[in-house]
Amino acid sequence: MGSGIAQVLSQAGLSVLIVDINDELVEKGLANVKRMYDSRVRKETITQNEADRCFALVKGSTRYSELKDVDLVIEAALEKIEVKVDIFRKLDAACPSEAVLASNTSSLSISEIARATKRPAKIIGMHFFNPAQVMKLVEVIPAVKTSDETVKSVLELCQKLGKTPVRITECPGFLVNRLLFPYINEALHVLQEGHFTAFEIDQAAVAFGFPMGPLALLDMTGLDVCTSVNEFLHDEYGVRFESAALMSHLASKGFLGQKTKAGIYLHPEGQPTSKGEEKKLNPSLDKIFAELKARGLAPKEPVHSGQPFDVLRIVLPMFNEAIFALQEGIASAADIDTAMALGTGLKRGLLTVAEEKGLAHCHEKLELYRIAKGERFRPCWYLSKLVKAGIHDFRELTSVPVAVK
Ligand code: 3HC
Repeated sequence: MGSGIAQVLSQAGLSVLIVDINDELVEKGLANVKRMYDSRVRKETITQNEADRCFALVKGSTRYSELKDVDLVIEAALEKIEVKVDIFRKLDAACPSEAVLASNTSSLSISEIARATKRPAKIIGMHFFNPAQVMKLVEVIPAVKTSDETVKSVLELCQKLGKTPVRITECPGFLVNRLLFPYINEALHVLQEGHFTAFEIDQAAVAFGFPMGPLALLDMTGLDVCTSVNEFLHDEYGVRFESAALMSHLASKGFLGQKTKAGIYLHPEGQPTSKGEEKKLNPSLDKIFAELKARGLAPKEPVHSGQPFDVLRIVLPMFNEAIFALQEGIASAADIDTAMALGTGLKRGLLTVAEEKGLAHCHEKLELYRIAKGERFRPCWYLSKLVKAGIHDFRELTSVPVAVK
């Protein structure tokens, strides 16, 4: 993701230094940025001269000492709190005291990261979405001690990069990942039940309005990243983030998605499947299902509902989590719709779709799935309250339970 962020910064005319742990990774990062510029030239969105000028702004290094004059650092390392804390300690020592240090963490606590530094007012979350050079959203997450000045400077920078920043109140998973993981998890539960194929599940999500299905998204994001993020969210929020055993099982076998050429699907070049090209399932899935069944982690026989695949089975957990976020004042209803549109490419507002379906209908279906599939579907109390109050439209809400700054 760091390469995508470097591309975006350099195209906005900013000098960028990619810092990584060894020369090979630095070279790989630079080659990725070069490939993104080549792609833009091929698509004729910029000229070769512009691409050359912008790419010349990107340099690489393995030394923190070269960060002594920077204004901003965007950290995009492994999703492990101990790794981030260690990096921020080193950054704090190496960077000028007035520099802003941002983390692109997917879900970890910005406040905990800030504690490792002597400049908590200058620490902030700047969460980009995959592919970072394409997706328009940046979640901007102030930590407990982040100053208004830092927030303002990062919001302005996002605008300069041509991104849309949405300010999020800090919580585990922030907003978009918090909503995406119950949806991805549920897709895996459905797949593991054995009645619907990965294609059917992904196609239903695309027909609903997502640019790609949850299982293709899992492969793109990486099963290692998703397993870490989901374990963290499960620890923080409990049963709503209960994942199918398939996710960690695939990751433990080294099927990490695109980056290892196989996850749910095969990715022969380790690259995105070209448009129109048919996806192929990972043939090892059959063996993995058999292992899960033998260990009692998946149903022995396919679970037949007797019905065609109901896309609401995977969308309702996402919608329910959106109402939890609303209830906690993490973001406004309008920001939730914007963030999902720009962070995941969802063609219609998530809450707008729920209004169209009817909040009472969504509540009722969540209850039915709770009875059939378990507590992870329990409707949020705020949704129950809205239904009892006869609310049909989120614009009718004059206040949310916690004021959003
Ligand atoms: N993996 C990586 N990059 C991909 C990709 C994939 N599977 N598919 C396409 N791309 C890149 C291409 O390389 C191209 O990059 P470039 O502009 O630098 O050349 C760019 O996306 C556009 O490619 P296409 O013209 O082929 O674009 P499409 O119209 O097919 O759109 C897409 C591709 C943008 C990936 C679109 O399918 C999409 O929006 N998908 C949803 C992505 C999403 O939900 N992202 C959020 C993930 S969650 C996250 O990032 C949070 C993290 O914390 C876990």
